[in-house]
Amino acid sequence: MPIFKRFGLLSDLYIALQLALTPTLRHIWATPSLIFHPTAISRIFMSYVWTAFGAGIDENNVQLKTSLITKNAYGVVLDLGAGHGHTAKYLDTTRVTKYVALEPNILMHDAIRRTADAAGFSEPSGTLLILACGAENTTTILTSLGGYQPVDTLVSVLTLCSVPDPQETIKSLTTEVLKPGGQLLFIEHVRNPLPNVAWWQSFWSPLWGLAFDGCRLDRPSHTWIQKVGGWASEELTGTDGEDEEHLFWHRVGKFVKAT
Ligand SMILES: C[S@@+](CC[C@H](N)C(=O)[O-])C[C@H]1O[C@@H](n2cnc3c(N)ncnc32)[C@H](O)[C@@H]1O
Ligand SMILES: *[C@@H]1O[C@H](CO)[C@@H](O)[C@H](O)[C@H]1NC(C)=O
Repeated sequence: MPIFKRFGLLSDLYIALQLALTPTLRHIWATPSLIFHPTAISRIFMSYVWTAFGAGIDENNVQLKTSLITKNAYGVVLDLGAGHGHTAKYLDTTRVTKYVALEPNILMHDAIRRTADAAGFSEPSGTLLILACGAENTTTILTSLGGYQPVDTLVSVLTLCSVPDPQETIKSLTTEVLKPGGQLLFIEHVRNPLPNVAWWQSFWSPLWGLAFDGCRLDRPSHTWIQKVGGWASEELTGTDGEDEEHLFWHRVGKFVKAT
């Protein structure tokens, strides 16, 4: 693996710091007690990072998201780690009855509201619901949606890299939250199957996670999804033209739960 591939992510890290550090420090200056709440600081930082990077990452994936999300999503859609709500833009309002945006970083909720509104989903009409809990908080998800297995389509775009207890979380979401016959659609960066690349992914993860709200580069999320089992069908692909030695190695999946 050439040097530039091993260290390539440092330039992203540098750009993120450049854009998000000053405004984050301004928050701490205004509210010094934040010092005692590292999670809160991390979320403030991440909200600036996502303001800078989110739209560009979304634009790079328009085709992929159209073929995965627009084509397949229906019914009640639960978007895990919705960010700025970019997923809403890909939802067909004639087939999706409700867009549920789960996003624990409340600094992103206004952006979700704006994006969803523009896509035809709103809180007053009951077609938009924003949840402030984490993906691991199944109890709150089920209570908010009023019952067991309420979701037709689970969407995860670049989120399983940062949820706590990912294996446990994936398991509860697919068994308790997803309807039988429902589907999980995901685009995730995952552990690279090449051991030397995976080594660098693990090496960078602690530093990367500090800047990007706990995001890890070395999680085999797609394998964990397969291991949960109970799928009637599994479609797993990569993204077109991706370098096989990439530290951000993506897997795209459409998994349909057995009835
Ligand atoms: C890389 S962003 C992706 C955002 C969005 N899915 C997109 O593609 O535009 C990851 C998101 O996961 C959220 N997140 C962090 N911890 C989470 C958790 N425990 N459960 C759900 N989402 C979480 C972050 O706040 C962030 O918005
Ligand atoms: C679940 O989410 C609710 C609402 O956001 C929160 O009050 C509660 O503390 C969370 N519970 C856990 C176990 O994370």
